[in-house]
Amino acid sequence: MPLRAKNDWDQNTARLLPRSAVANVTQPHGKRPWLVEVASIESNEATPGKRGGAAKGNAMTIAHQEAVIDPAAVDAIFAQARTANSFTGEVTDEQAQAIYELTKFGPTAFNSQPLRVTYVRSDEARAKLVDTLMPGNRAKTASAPLVAILSYDTDWAGQWDNFLPGYNAPKAMYDANPELAAATGNNNAHLQAGYFILAVRSLGFAAGPMTGADFGAIDEAFFPAGDQKSFLVVNIGLPAENAWGEAKPKFAYEDIVRTV
Ligand SMILES: Cc1cc2nc3c(=O)[nH]c(=O)nc-3n(C[C@H](O)[C@H](O)[C@H](O)COP(=O)(O)O)c2cc1C
Repeated sequence: MPLRAKNDWDQNTARLLPRSAVANVTQPHGKRPWLVEVASIESNEATPGKRGGAAKGNAMTIAHQEAVIDPAAVDAIFAQARTANSFTGEVTDEQAQAIYELTKFGPTAFNSQPLRVTYVRSDEARAKLVDTLMPGNRAKTASAPLVAILSYDTDWAGQWDNFLPGYNAPKAMYDANPELAAATGNNNAHLQAGYFILAVRSLGFAAGPMTGADFGAIDEAFFPAGDQKSFLVVNIGLPAENAWGEAKPKFAYEDIVRTV
């Protein structure tokens, strides 16, 4: 599943090697055999200063070997992806819809899907949003091809029969406890925000998520009825030149994970 090559960035991250450079490997867990890009695995050895280079080469070798999707897709979504700080290009309405059409499949508690997405397109809305941001977030948000405000629906439980038809017994628990309902909406929308960022990346774009904003002011400007609470602003587009600095350190498996 090669990504569309839009520029050098795409060609570098999503490029498939010629057939002669790939080996046919059978997955150890018995899933379908996959073409593993041997050179790509080797080139993902830790290389400080390169994009994704902070990931341990050994760990990425395991990730590529275990993947049941195209290793180039693994790179585009995870190992080679960075948070962009400057953007270029265009994001069409169809591409904006495609981001959601992928996001919606991520799991949420009771299938609740409390995330709501507001795409900011007009100059007027963009200016209103930029005013609410911390100074360091303003210029990149003013110039990003597309900006999304992610929020959660404060009445997500009110839609129970739409998202989990036939089993609404747990709804009473949320109706009786507004704080639990708000926390559950907030938490699950944050999960969906992660799916949203990976969806953006899987379509060949870069995402710039930001919490450096006055979300009370965003809610006043965009959701005055109180029906949604915003929690993240995401810039979306192709990364411009100097979109990121040196690769940042990522914690190693052995420092973070334990098996009990
Ligand atoms: C929830 C969240 C909030 C963030 N807020 C900001 C922000 O306000 N401004 C900013 O420039 N970057 C922000 N970032 C970007 C992070 O600093 C960045 O994703 C992180 O340092 C990893 O960078 P990398 O993808 O290049 O490895 C945010 C990221 C997330 C996920």
